[in-house]
Amino acid sequence: MAEQNSFLPFHLPDIGDEEIRSVVATLRSGWLTTGAKVKQLEEEFSRYTGATHSVAVNSGTAALHLALDAIGIKEGDEVIVPTMTFTASAEVVLYFKARPVLIDCDPDTLNIDAERIEEKITSRTKAIMPVHFGGHPCEMDRILQIARKYNLRVIEDAAHALPTRYRGQMIGTIGDITCFSFYVTKTITTGEGGMATTDNPEWAEKMRIMSLHGISKDAWKRYTSEGSWYYEVHYPGYKYNLTDIAAAIGIEQLKKCDRFLAARRRIATAYDRGFRDLPEIEIPTCRPGLDHAWHLYVIKLKLERLSIQRAEFINKLKEKGIGTSVHFIPLHLHPYYRDNLGYNRCDFPVATTCFERIISLPIYPTMSEDDIQRVITAVRETSEQYRR
Ligand SMILES: Cc1ncc(COP(=O)(O)O)c(C=O)c1O
Repeated sequence: MAEQNSFLPFHLPDIGDEEIRSVVATLRSGWLTTGAKVKQLEEEFSRYTGATHSVAVNSGTAALHLALDAIGIKEGDEVIVPTMTFTASAEVVLYFKARPVLIDCDPDTLNIDAERIEEKITSRTKAIMPVHFGGHPCEMDRILQIARKYNLRVIEDAAHALPTRYRGQMIGTIGDITCFSFYVTKTITTGEGGMATTDNPEWAEKMRIMSLHGISKDAWKRYTSEGSWYYEVHYPGYKYNLTDIAAAIGIEQLKKCDRFLAARRRIATAYDRGFRDLPEIEIPTCRPGLDHAWHLYVIKLKLERLSIQRAEFINKLKEKGIGTSVHFIPLHLHPYYRDNLGYNRCDFPVATTCFERIISLPIYPTMSEDDIQRVITAVRETSEQYRR
């Protein structure tokens, strides 16, 4: 909870005594790296999401990388990725010397525009990577239909989408592999961490093996009484395993996931009410029949009604003590993607225009009623002061 007039950060994690006790117990247990706590987190994550297999790793990026590895992405392949995302979604494609093929976004949800996917499919396309922007699910029925038609895999970037439901079905149980992030700003955190879910046992096994050097099954058990000194390396794998210290935080965070969601929903509702009558502000959409995780609350400025641009609006909020962020600078506007993949700002007009208008407001469970009101007042005052 921020004090009146102090700076309200864009995000603060909600870490309670439960997480602290759990970490201390793990530190005292003598087992710090991947072990029983990671296994417990995986089991509880499967129970919570309804996923068949959950594989814990040390970041959402690692989960995406292992997912693409498991489905066999190779040099020269293409993967469909939205431009309105974080670089992690596309960079993992580049790890394989494959090509992320960018797609524009829907102007309301900022999710991948599913109607633009088919026109970008070629003989090299192997997968589609929908990103559930801010926690609003993508048009999964349409995406799965396209994937079936062209025999493509669907790897969901669900870094923002715990918990999210698409027409009643939990994200984590829909695509071929779904990848979550437990980065500090996410809806639950382990500091750094991630999880991949799938109902395919071979992909789960491959991701598990590749997350720990490509060493044969249950490599982490080799130092336990059940384990053996003997192991075999089957692939040149990675060092992506989650520690038991991090999992100890995650187990407690997962127990609070529904309570955290209820808190974020309450803030989103308060913001909706607080901004609905402002002609300068477009509030975020939640399409009917879908459950939003409210990881982000992104307003869009109606710049034609304001005498200042987005950057100045953010500065004014900062002067009033409100921290904000921008999700995202679309990938095609970054030098790397522009210079190496040949994209330019005109390629994705919806994402380019939305980018100039978006601001992510604070939305996290430790915000007090006062904090919420301060954000509403700051946005209202700034809109009114710079009204055209
Ligand atoms: C859409 C998206 N995908 C992937 C990631 C990567 O997650 P991590 O930071 O856990 O590697 C992030 C993290 O910010 C993200 O926002």
